[in-house]
Amino acid sequence: MNTKPLLVFVVSIVILGSLESTAHQSQPAPTTNAPTYTSDGQLRLPVNYREWVYLTTGFDMSYSAANGMDHHMFDNVFVNPESYQAFLKTGTWPDKTMLALEVRGAKSKGSINQAGNYQGTDRMGLEIHVKDTSRFKDQGNWAFFGFDDKPTSTMTPTSMACYSCHAQHAAVDTTFVQFYPTLLPIAVAHNTLSANYREETAPATAPKDAATYPKP
Ligand code: HEC
Repeated sequence: MNTKPLLVFVVSIVILGSLESTAHQSQPAPTTNAPTYTSDGQLRLPVNYREWVYLTTGFDMSYSAANGMDHHMFDNVFVNPESYQAFLKTGTWPDKTMLALEVRGAKSKGSINQAGNYQGTDRMGLEIHVKDTSRFKDQGNWAFFGFDDKPTSTMTPTSMACYSCHAQHAAVDTTFVQFYPTLLPIAVAHNTLSANYREETAPATAPKDAATYPKP
């Protein structure tokens, strides 16, 4: 029996099959990192946020000088890669940006470590900051969602301090780019720093008490 035609047939099927999958790959990939919501408006946890672009790790950051913590904490910040690429070009965030802030406890004793701290395996918190102009237009285009162990989260109410602190002190579009070392120079170059932040960091050249100066 001649097996040659069969072999040719099988080989061509394999080749056709692989051509077909290449054709699929060349289609524009769907933005898998865009926010998705349940029908009642809860954000779905972007489960792969750990595969996004890493921006920074804060260590024991606190908004008041004495935070009274008896333990140390790290926070890690990530952003979806599509928005990171857009930021590199424009110095600000496009619609559908998601930033993740993950909190981990600091450990000091383990394996060969004798000094300093490293991050523990338990995630102690996860907050997502989402820019979605179609949903959050009336509140400045952004919203916060806090996740514990559930796969979805309701929006953090706009009355919470998250919104006011980010609006008043964050360097770019309510995000704390002043603490993201690879992004701050890009924002400076594109002149996208917020007015509040520029004011906060401007050298104090104006006289504090104008009344001590003679009126013109
Ligand atoms: C008093 C100011 C302040 C308050 C209140 C605050 N944050 Fe932040 N937030 C920060 C700072 C500072 C950073 C930068 C952290 C770093 O550099 O590691 C940050 C970063 C973040 C990020 C990373 C993305 C970004 O926007 O830069 C998220 C997400 C976030 N905060 C969520 C929240 C949520 C949710 C709340 C309320 C429950 C909140 N924050 C309250 C100051 C604040």
